[in-house]
Amino acid sequence: MHSQAHDVGAPSLREALRTGTALLHGGLERRLPFFSERLDAHWYQRLLQAYFGFYAPMEEALCDAELIPVGFDPAQRVKTPTLLRDLHALGLNDDAINALPRSTQLPRLDTPAACLGVLYVLEGATLGGQVLRREMAQRLALDADNGGGFLNVYGAETGRRWKDFLDYLGSLPLDAPATQRAVDAARSTFSCFEQWLDSQEVLL
Ligand code: HEM
Repeated sequence: MHSQAHDVGAPSLREALRTGTALLHGGLERRLPFFSERLDAHWYQRLLQAYFGFYAPMEEALCDAELIPVGFDPAQRVKTPTLLRDLHALGLNDDAINALPRSTQLPRLDTPAACLGVLYVLEGATLGGQVLRREMAQRLALDADNGGGFLNVYGAETGRRWKDFLDYLGSLPLDAPATQRAVDAARSTFSCFEQWLDSQEVLL
């Protein structure tokens, strides 16, 4: 007995996630202003505030759902604390941070597979972060101590942690319907995030 996802010809969970979100990734990437000449310190701060407004409720919802399959340690991978540290470094106090708007449109987390789809997006974003970190260091002199920590949240461990995450995904026996639920949730994560950033007027 084996699950359909492991049948010859059936794409792995990661392949399905990558294929299923590639267009959405490209679309969002083109609208993010990191490489725009118009991006200045003020726009960067508004962008980070908007990231916080999505990541904080998203990570809270993931923990509250209590549906993440065993083998993933949220405490070791949450990124909201780093965003908080960046916002403090940029001069916001706790009151100002608590007053920031937060997204209420989030992907539905009603199954373990849906949680995996969301986690895939949040973990994968650390890869692009490496490209963006270098750009922001050059252009806005940002580093881990002055507001640029989030883009380098896993630092030198980024590659290893991504590989560990892929190993974790690969170890889970998801059948075809569950794989589809994960892809739907990953797609919804990209859409909700883009719509949220759009509503905060931080995209190109
Ligand atoms: C301008 C912004 C971005 C750039 C330049 C960028 C760039 C990249 C690059 C170069 C990779 C591949 C890295 C590798 O294969 O080693 C990657 C992967 C990925 N990125 Fe982005 N990214 C951006 C924004 C985002 C955002 C905002 C998210 C999600 C919130 C995201 C989610 C992902 C995911 C899930 C993967 C993994 C794809 C896979 O399975 O291989 N990216 N990104």
